[in-house]
Amino acid sequence: MMQDKQVIVTGAASGIGLATATRFAKAGAHVLGLDRKPGVTSIGLDLPNMRGVCCDLTDVRQVTTALEEGLVKTSVDILVNNAGINPSPSSLTGTSEAVWQKLLDTNLTAIFRVTKIVMGYLYEGSIINISSILAFSGANNNAAYAATKGAIVSLTRAMARDHGPSIRVNCVSPGAVETEMFEEYLSRCDDPVRERERIRKALPSKRLGQPEDIAEAVFFLASDAASWITGQMLVVDGGDSA
Ligand SMILES: NC(=O)c1ccc[n+]([C@@H]2O[C@H](COP(=O)([O-])OP(=O)(O)OC[C@H]3O[C@@H](n4cnc5c(N)ncnc54)[C@H](O)[C@@H]3O)[C@@H](O)[C@H]2O)c1
Repeated sequence: MMQDKQVIVTGAASGIGLATATRFAKAGAHVLGLDRKPGVTSIGLDLPNMRGVCCDLTDVRQVTTALEEGLVKTSVDILVNNAGINPSPSSLTGTSEAVWQKLLDTNLTAIFRVTKIVMGYLYEGSIINISSILAFSGANNNAAYAATKGAIVSLTRAMARDHGPSIRVNCVSPGAVETEMFEEYLSRCDDPVRERERIRKALPSKRLGQPEDIAEAVFFLASDAASWITGQMLVVDGGDSA
């Protein structure tokens, strides 16, 4: 089903993006991972059909060059817009305009930018954007991040209307997943060990998410099994928002 499909995953050097790229590659797809971390070029060492190209998604020229360098086919079947940051979480009043703009540029405008370029190759297939449960649930000190993630849900719905039936567009909203971004959050807490346990115990699933939990949801939405699903948000959060 995924054999010989061309898949692009942004933010593929670590966490959810790496797990997603690996999931598609193990199913036989040709995977191109994009990330600003130089380590992305090592992601395909044990999987010949997966390769990574280093590029900053906030720079349109770098994205264009990376696609020219990394694509193995002239058409793309699946795009996963996963890259995101949350460098200095704060309330609206505690957020500088520079930080606000950086979050918008990386979490939202990069999706606009990358998708516009990839649409030149994607005639039929599927786009999956990674949002967050913070798009719809309240959380202290995450004003800019939550705003970008909410906008991703709106963009997903609008794009599904504009680009169906040939292209399905969905998003996944993860809860707490053990990645570098989550570890960064914990490191800012007074007692990281206690905070991790507090979050875990509050979940109906009683376990924190793993990148593979999100990769499976993305894979499902991209597959033919989800052929009648478009414009939707799939929440994968261990029951956090139940
Ligand atoms: N981990 C969680 O708990 C959680 C929860 C909800 C949503 N998310 C979302 O999941 C996505 C993946 O995050 P993660 O948890 O795997 O974090 P992560 O930090 O491990 O991965 C994010 C990747 O995006 C890359 N990236 C960021 N800005 C970039 C840019 N300008 N150009 C190229 N690459 C860039 C980073 O280098 C990194 O490799 C993000 O959109 C995040 O907001 C994560």
